[in-house]
Amino acid sequence: VILFVTSLIIGYLLGSISFSYLIAKKIKKVDIRQHGSGNAGATNTLRVLGVGPAVAVLILDILKGIIAVIIASLLAPNDLGWYPAMAGLAAILGHNWPIFFRFKGGKGVATTIGVLAFLVFLPSLIAGVIAIASIFLTKYVSLGSLLFVILTPVTTFLLLNTLNIPSSYFILTFIVALLSLWRHRTNVVRIFNGTENKIGKKAV
Ligand code: G3P
Repeated sequence: VILFVTSLIIGYLLGSISFSYLIAKKIKKVDIRQHGSGNAGATNTLRVLGVGPAVAVLILDILKGIIAVIIASLLAPNDLGWYPAMAGLAAILGHNWPIFFRFKGGKGVATTIGVLAFLVFLPSLIAGVIAIASIFLTKYVSLGSLLFVILTPVTTFLLLNTLNIPSSYFILTFIVALLSLWRHRTNVVRIFNGTENKIGKKAV
């Protein structure tokens, strides 16, 4: 139990390191949460700061998810995958509600990519390719994000037996999809209204 809780806490604290906030503060001395969409994530960093910083945020936010999962796997006895799955979830929760930044963070997509790519590589790769294609076609990053989180449980389920995926990982993909839908609820409304932000436009 102590090891499990430790891996959750480490995951949450890692997730709480909001790289978009830190990088925006460092290079432009602004609070990313008061610009663009107000979201502390890679997409909004692209809007507010441009491509270079956005790529840096994306990579770092992905990495913290991966590291949280790796640490939990190392701490785990030979369990059924619950340690890495729940530590990954803790990292995503930390990203969304970071303890270091008054619990106002992002929508968790980059961190989710890290966690799922590590735990269910092929299913998330398939979902990711479709998601990226949709972003190119529609210019809506949020739509791509949602496709990714909604399709991953489907592809994971389809490959469950073939790849011998633990059911803890499948349950994680499901929880993460619901969480992400909730975090993107305002984006969903804007997509239906046709008022969602498209990438390629810079914010002021
Ligand atoms: O990952 C967040 C993305 O899906 C949407 O971000 O800033 O457009 O709300 P944003």
